[in-house]
Amino acid sequence: MKAAVLHEIGGVPRYEEFPDPVARDDEVVIEVKAVAVENVDKRIAAGTHFASRQYTAQLPAIPAFDGIGALPDGTLVGFGNPRPPYGALAEKTVVPKGSYVPITEGIDPAVATVLGTAITGMSIKTGAGFVPGETVLVQGATGVAGRLAVKVARLLGAGRIIATGRDDDQLRQVQALGADETINTAVSDEALTQAYLDAERDGYDVVLDFLWGRPTEILLRSLVPQSFAFRKPTRLIQIGESAGAELSLAAESLRTSGVEIYGAAKGLNPETMQEVYGQVVTWTRSGDLTFDVVKVPLSDIETAWQRTDLRGSRLVVVP
Ligand SMILES: NC(=O)c1ccc[n+]([C@@H]2O[C@H](COP(=O)([O-])OP(=O)(O)OC[C@H]3O[C@@H](n4cnc5c(N)ncnc54)[C@H](OP(=O)(O)O)[C@@H]3O)[C@@H](O)[C@H]2O)c1
Repeated sequence: MKAAVLHEIGGVPRYEEFPDPVARDDEVVIEVKAVAVENVDKRIAAGTHFASRQYTAQLPAIPAFDGIGALPDGTLVGFGNPRPPYGALAEKTVVPKGSYVPITEGIDPAVATVLGTAITGMSIKTGAGFVPGETVLVQGATGVAGRLAVKVARLLGAGRIIATGRDDDQLRQVQALGADETINTAVSDEALTQAYLDAERDGYDVVLDFLWGRPTEILLRSLVPQSFAFRKPTRLIQIGESAGAELSLAAESLRTSGVEIYGAAKGLNPETMQEVYGQVVTWTRSGDLTFDVVKVPLSDIETAWQRTDLRGSRLVVVP
């Protein structure tokens, strides 16, 4: 079969022949239909992700650990957990029996690869208990997940949506998608603090944080009240770290603002996952939620892997 083959950690996968996978007793071979290439796949291939050792212990290997494919009986499924060195970026892969769920009919497999990213936006509800009318700040709104989060917040009935990014052109696009106001974080610390203060008005109810690092450190500092006053607590959902893996949190920020910080996994269980998945599928089928995907053939993987021009659109490989 043809596959995207990684020969060395930190290398670029090449379109090559690779032996067909053979299923063991407890496995099934999947015919791959679509695979989203995300930062996490590149970090695994680069050896900078905690799961790198799991997926690249044996080289050559095929990158990507999930996708959309067909079971031997033709059923379309979302699959995960392929047995290394097999990965998703190939014509076929092999996964444990049961490591897949049927995908809803009527949704393009390329779009289905991005549904999980839209579900991250739903964590304002599952993690922070968002209710319609509340003010939502999306930190890092110009990426794929951030843009979908803005759309999801709008669909869930946010009162006001503030979106942050570091590029004015990208921020204008995010405003067209439903953000009411934008903040460019590529300014001095003082100017950014002021921008957060100016935009908050009567407070941010929920922050969906894809950035962490410097912008979120400044945001948390800006939540400290300017006088002895009771603040409406902000609930911050931590979900990404595009701007940094760590930040410094002053005790004062926590103590005086009453900010509540949760991980995006809060509130997730099989029931809530089913509920939010169902909601995202309903919006997708009705056309209320749209996805920007750029489809490329597997044969183009070497060029596609190195693309940096897809800001806000998901690269989806279609074998
Ligand atoms: N995709 C998912 O399903 C998923 C699920 C859970 C968590 N996450 C996490 O969420 C984050 C975003 O994921 P994504 O799929 O949306 O990625 P993406 O499309 O590559 O977007 C990355 C975003 O981060 C911004 N950014 C990158 N470096 C930055 C920096 N140094 N300072 C400030 N902003 C910076 C980018 O801004 P520019 O547009 O200016 O480049 C862009 O808005 C990642 O940390 C990811 O691991 C993603």
